[in-house]
Amino acid sequence: MIEDSKTSSLGRYNVTKRERDKYFFKVPSLRNIEHTAPYFHDGRVLTLHEAIEVMALLQLGRKFTQKEVMQIEEFLKSLSGDMPASKDIYVP
Ligand code: HEM
Repeated sequence: MIEDSKTSSLGRYNVTKRERDKYFFKVPSLRNIEHTAPYFHDGRVLTLHEAIEVMALLQLGRKFTQKEVMQIEEFLKSLSGDMPASKDIYVP
């Protein structure tokens, strides 16, 4: 069963004040994910390992075995590359 995510933030609604934007969050890229902790919009998860377990539970309604979590973690680490220089990051 898929569980509800517990968050105190209203997400995009805080900016737009549109009812339909409540609990909408921008999903960050998984590129370089091993270097971009803490995870999720509120930074509540410190390790990639736990972030994978949370995703399994909240988004897939599954509990991965430790082996599965470690395999996914290894895959996500394969998405690492050169970090963009801060001068190349777009700040609106
Ligand atoms: C094995 C499958 C999955 C893995 C390993 C995974 C991994 C991740 C990770 C590591 C993050 C944190 C990104 C960050 O904070 O920089 C994330 C965020 C997110 N993912 Fe997943 N994900 C999976 C499946 C899914 C699915 C199936 C959905 C939706 C149908 C989903 C929706 C989201 C959303 C909405 C966020 C942002 C949540 C927030 O900021 O609070 N994910 N995912």
